This record gives sequence, structure tokens and C-alpha cells, in this order.
Amino acid sequence: MAAKVIVMINNKGGVGKTTLTTNLGDGLGRLGNNILVIDLDPQGNSSSLLSPVNPERLGMNVGDLMMADDPLIHLGKCLIEETGFKRVNLLPANLRLDIQAEEIHMKMFNASFRLKKVVDEVKDLYDYIIIDCPPRLSGVL
Ligand SMILES: Nc1ncnc2c1ncn2[C@@H]1O[C@H](COP(=O)(O)OP(=O)(O)O)[C@@H](O)[C@H]1O
Ligand SMILES: [Mg+2]
Repeated sequence: MAAKVIVMINNKGGVGKTTLTTNLGDGLGRLGNNILVIDLDPQGNSSSLLSPVNPERLGMNVGDLMMADDPLIHLGKCLIEETGFKRVNLLPANLRLDIQAEEIHMKMFNASFRLKKVVDEVKDLYDYIIIDCPPRLSGVL
């Protein structure tokens, strides 16, 4: 069955989006669900919490997948399956996502559509997909 998608979105920072993303992911994972956290905040706080390596040192992030014509081809290089939390996988973000967001807009890509394409590729692999957004409401990036 396709994953339920939960989006943590609010136009303010510091209101608990990342805390809720990571704790809900951990809790649902402990209950036996397969979880994918998608970090859309270039600050990469969810990624720092979940990733075993510093997200700034990762070769690929979720922005690379959003810009790829066929995200599935690159999924294996981006997806972090071994997070610190059981059954929680991560599509990470880092500061580079800020520059990529500009590129996505410059190329007139629709960021929401690009994200949906990524989600559609993976939604049958997970029970829940939790998306941690940056502190704004206009567009996903
Ligand atoms: N329910 C809560 N009670 C108290 N402090 C919280 C709670 N949720 C989050 N915090 C704290 O608030 C700060 C901001 O949370 P964070 O999840 O990073 O917000 P956001 O992702 O919306 O910017 C962090 O220091 C976090 O520990
Ligand atoms: Mg946050």
C-alpha cells in the first residue's frame, strides 16, 4: 500500500517541525512501520539528527533527486538507509539545497511537481513519508 505522506509545514522557524519529524519517525518506526524522512530544509537539521555522517559531506541530497529527470536512477546514491533510528530512512538536505532551489526556479522547474515525482517513486516502499519543510509557506523550496 502507498505510504501516508505527512508534511511538517509552518512559516515560522523554531516551532517544532524538525523535532516532530524526527520523533514521529522514530516512534512510528519503533511500532514496526517503514519510514522515510525527506528533509527539505537547507539547514539540514533533520539530516544532522538522523544521518550517520555530516550532511554537508554527502555527495547527493534531495535537491539532486528533484532535478533529475529520472530520480529512481539516483535514488541509491542519495538514500540513507542506515540512520540512527530503526526502520527510518532519510533523503537528506544540506546547505547546497539553497543554491539548488535557485537553480530549480531558474530552470522554471515546478518544485512541488519535482518533489511529487520523487515521492511517487518511493511511496510503495514505505508506510509513512514525513517531509520536514523550511520555515515558509510559498512553494516547497
Ligand atoms: N514540544 C516541545 N517542547 C519544548 N521544546 C521544543 C518542543 N519541540 C521543539 N522544541 C525545541 O524548540 C527548538 C526548535 O525546534 P525545531 O524542531 O528545530 O523547530 P523548527 O524545525 O520548526 O525550526 C529546539 O530547540 C527544540 O528542542
Ligand atoms: Mg527545522
